[in-house]
This record gives sequence, C-alpha cells and structure tokens, in this order.
Amino acid sequence: MARYNFDQCIDRHGTQCKKIEVLKQDYGRDDLLPLWIADMDFAVCPEITEALVHRLGDHPIYGYTCLYDGYWQSIIDWQRERNGFEFTQDEVTFVAGIVTGFGLAVNFFTRPGDKIIIQQPVYYPFKDVIEGNGRICINNALLPSPDGLYSMNLEELERLMREEKPTMMVVCNPHNPGGITWEPDILRKVARMARENGVIVFSDEIFGDLTLFGHRHTPMATVSEDAAAVTVTCGAPSKTFNIAGLKSSWCVVKNPELREPFFKWIEINELCNANLVSIIATEAAYRHGGPWLEECLHYIEGNVELVQQYCHEHIPGIVAVKPQAGFLLWLDCTGLGLSHDEVVTLFRDKAGLAMNEGSMFGEAGKCHMRFNMGSPRSVIHQAMRQLEAAVKSL
Ligand SMILES: Cc1ncc(COP(=O)(O)O)c(C=O)c1O
Repeated sequence: MARYNFDQCIDRHGTQCKKIEVLKQDYGRDDLLPLWIADMDFAVCPEITEALVHRLGDHPIYGYTCLYDGYWQSIIDWQRERNGFEFTQDEVTFVAGIVTGFGLAVNFFTRPGDKIIIQQPVYYPFKDVIEGNGRICINNALLPSPDGLYSMNLEELERLMREEKPTMMVVCNPHNPGGITWEPDILRKVARMARENGVIVFSDEIFGDLTLFGHRHTPMATVSEDAAAVTVTCGAPSKTFNIAGLKSSWCVVKNPELREPFFKWIEINELCNANLVSIIATEAAYRHGGPWLEECLHYIEGNVELVQQYCHEHIPGIVAVKPQAGFLLWLDCTGLGLSHDEVVTLFRDKAGLAMNEGSMFGEAGKCHMRFNMGSPRSVIHQAMRQLEAAVKSL
C-alpha cells in the first residue's frame, strides 16, 4: 500500500521556488505550467523534515558546523548498498553542488586553453563552465539510436583523445536529457582510452539513484582499474530526495595521486564547508529515505507511461522517449513537421507549458523538449491536454 501521497498538489508560490519565480523572466509569461528545471513538486520524505525541524526548532544556536562521522557513513553506506560503489571516508569530500564540483575539478585539473570533451546533447552548464573558465569545449556528439536514446561514438572519442589531446572529459552518468544508464562495458572502454591518453574523467552521477523500469546505474569508478585511476565522481542526494535547494553533494576520487592534492586544495580554500541544513537533511535522506524513493520512482514510471500512451493515442507527431533513469522525459517533436522555433512557440504560447527547449543541450536537441515528470499525475495530465489542444489547433 502507498505510504506517501505523490498526487498531492502543493502550492509552491511564495517559497523562493525558482521553477515559478523566474517564469516571467525566462519565458516572458508567468501563467505557464512549470515543467522545466529539474526539481520535483513532491513533499520530501517526512524523516528529512523531522530531522530539520528537530535540529532547527529544538536548538536555537546555528554556529559553525562540522562534518561528522554519521554524515559520512550515511553516504558511504547508501552508495555501497544501492550502487555497489565502495569508498572510504578519506576518498570522499563535500561539495556544495555538482556544477560547483565540476567547476572545482576544471579549475584544479586543467589550465586555460585546455580542451575538455562533452557529449551533446547534454546538460548545458558543462559547456558554460568549460568556456566560462577559458577552456575549450569539444563535442563528441552522441549518436541517435532507433529507440530515441543515444549511444556514445567511441571511435570518434578515441580519435579526439589522440589528436586533440584533451585533459578532461565529462560523462553524464546517467545521462541528462536522455535518461540513459550507460552499460559497464561502454564505461570500461571510455576509461581505458582516457587512461591511455592521460584524460581525467568527470562523472556526474546526480541521477544515479533514480533508475527506472528495472535499469541499473553503474558508477564510473567501479568498472575497472583504469576507471578508478582516472575518475572524479560527483553525486548528491539533491535530485534523489528533492532537496536541491539545500546544496548538498559529494565528490569521490579513488586515485590518491589525483585525490590528495585536489582535496587539499579544496580544504585549504574552505570549499568543502557544508552548511548545517544540508548535512542534517543528507544524513536523514540516506538513512531513512529508501522507501520514499522506491514509491517516488514507481510514481514517475507511471507519469512516463501516461505521457507515452497519451502521445501515442492523441499526439502521434511527438514521441516520448522512455528514460532508463531520472525524472526528465525527452520529447522528440520532429514528427510535428515544425521548425525548432515553431516547436518552442507551440509549447510556450499555444500550450501554456514551460519546458526546457532541446537546443539548450546542443544542436542535436533541436525539435526536442525536456518535460519534468516530477509533478502530480493531475498536473502531467493537464499538461498533455493542453499540448493536445495546441497541436490540434495547428
Ligand atoms: C546532470 C545534472 N548535473 C548537475 C545538475 C545540477 O546539480 P547542482 O544543482 O548540484 O549543481 C543537474 C540539474 O539539473 C543535472 O541535471
């Protein structure tokens, strides 16, 4: 029997909710259904709220805070049990966010003018961080697969590593926006070439706990000795437990030659100083959030199936690509026969929906939209009705 109510519509107005507050600024209208930025509209598991209320409400001093053994152990236990990712307390540090962690890795391990490989379509801040820090972004474009997902172009990757001499590459694992859980064998090949070519792999595993439809997440650093030697992994409870606003993430580096100087630099510059709220919520989430997460994933699967079925029956020009992980659904709108700009206008102005337009993730994302499934079913259904009406009005 369901213990948590994911059907509940919670009004997020007046709660500093970015999804709502920047609608006018980013979409030009504030009356759109907000289905874009990747947080969920579900209440967090009660144990997180209870832990925060207990600490903040029952004790009135919020002074300097230290990271404590129970906090570290909650991350270590969760990763070992859920993903088979084993590391010790020495091998993990706190970072305030995944993009923050990426920025730290770029600044520490690479120099201005260095080349860094990404694989588009992919989460757009990677490119921004690379270029914003004066590094050169190289795209090893993902190859479209018949199922609407993507595969890595390993031949081209090897050529780029050999000829362009990048110092880093990013693996979005699982992949956003495709929702792909990369196979261990693929990750092993990437790690081998990275090691042979002296490339550090930054593995963004923020969606690693959110696997769907029986798929499994493979932490990059676990696939081989090569992978353990070259990988800097960042993960977080933020997407998993819907606590992105608390800014809590972790970074694991298995190879001491990379880790020791990197972690020392982070520590000296106090870049790993966590705030009280983030660590309390993180421990509560990892210790007690498992049952909530299982129900949440099941609910997201239901939302995905609803959209797939709805498109199939009523909007055949749009294909909802079945994700293997995450709560983001990649809508392939090429069948509508519209230009990319027309697709964007259709969703925003005719359907009244605020989603992420696919071109944000690179050229290959044209005529795609990214639809956030982390909302109550009634909202997802409403969005589909609005979309259907808009398409039929064309
Ligand atoms: C793949 C991926 N990495 C990182 C982030 C952002 O993480 P953070 O807020 O911890 O920087 C997101 C947010 O949507 C994401 O999709």
